[in-house]
Amino acid sequence: MNVAGSLRVPGDKSVSHRSLIMGVLGVGPSRVTDILQSADVHSTAGVLRTLGAHIPELSSNFVIMGRGPDSLRQPEADLDCGNSGTTTRLIAGVVAARPITATFTGDASLSRRPMRRVSRPLEAMGARFELPSHGGLPMIVHGGALHDVDWTGEMASAQVKSAILLAALVSGVRARVSEPARSRDHTERMLSARGAAVTIDGRAVSIEPNQALRALDTHVPGDPSSASFFAGLAALAQSGELRLEGVCVNETRTGFFHVLRRMGVRIAEENRRLEGGEWVADLLVTPAALRGATVGEADVPSMIDELPLLACVAARAEGETVITGANELRVKESDRITAVVSNLRALGVDAEELPDGMCVRGSDKPLTGRIVTHGDHRLAMAFGVLGASRDASIEIDDRECVAVSYPDFWRDLARAHTA
Ligand code: S3P
Repeated sequence: MNVAGSLRVPGDKSVSHRSLIMGVLGVGPSRVTDILQSADVHSTAGVLRTLGAHIPELSSNFVIMGRGPDSLRQPEADLDCGNSGTTTRLIAGVVAARPITATFTGDASLSRRPMRRVSRPLEAMGARFELPSHGGLPMIVHGGALHDVDWTGEMASAQVKSAILLAALVSGVRARVSEPARSRDHTERMLSARGAAVTIDGRAVSIEPNQALRALDTHVPGDPSSASFFAGLAALAQSGELRLEGVCVNETRTGFFHVLRRMGVRIAEENRRLEGGEWVADLLVTPAALRGATVGEADVPSMIDELPLLACVAARAEGETVITGANELRVKESDRITAVVSNLRALGVDAEELPDGMCVRGSDKPLTGRIVTHGDHRLAMAFGVLGASRDASIEIDDRECVAVSYPDFWRDLARAHTA
């Protein structure tokens, strides 16, 4: 397989969700350009509209007329978050700080995911929650005036951190959130840029009460998680070079690129620039003879969504790749430890589950089989990339699930390589 050409991946999913939420909470017009138009982002737009926000139809360039948090009202319908954990957890933080009772619902996968991680800190701030015994959805949030909180999270989670910061912002109280490791920091960046009093002290983030959030335009940078699939494709190629344009290289997101370099891949960064508060660069990725890598707890937060892809790339590396400290993979859109390992084994790859990760021993033998994605977009794309590699014939049971984060993934994959 050969890679060639250049590709601009769609807008970052995390920044896209936040651009809508901040646009609504700000006061005045906020222009959003290059937002990701995927199912998850549509879920956030839909939920905000159900809460009374005016969000135009999503396009590559539109304006949200923000009217501040008071514009969010008691909804008349459930808040359907689809497959999106970010929609659920971030907007739960906003609703918890408003005099609103709302029921959050979602698809079967989202309904199984743990929500106590957001209900506990928001309850500590004074909101009330009703959750089913399994701790997932449907989740009823009874919001109202909140009080200060100093919260120590058990896991690094940008969604939990963001829920707390947004709740404090809307309620006009102080919050401090500390995490065992730094999670992605888009919320802090976007809040600060809009005038919120946010301070960062090592692994802790604090917000002080102050006046209304300013409106501000957002240019959504290319999603590094989406770009990673193509960096992985280039890593697996026999020849060529792939240029990925306008990728967000925020250091809380780039762990996968660092690990690929450790595996021998050349990734050159060009035109590094600051765009709308985020570092962006063009990445030039060249194939290499791959060797296995070790990924531990400290590496995980900056590449949490890329670990299924890393396991697929590792299937073609020389030697062993060991991933540990990644318990969080078990509570993503699927149990990504069990699902990745069982799919790799179904293809004939030597892989095994660890309690908090996995171990993959690479080879160049032919890989043939059918992947069960469990509707998990990142599994479909990771195995899609492996399927494009030499001597692989891989069928994916549900190709459509990529619509959650990257609707044109299959088109772009086909364009980026030749057999
Ligand atoms: C996200 C945070 C991460 C990540 C998810 C998006 C965000 O989840 O896996 O895809 O936009 O805040 P956690 O907060 O559960 O780690």
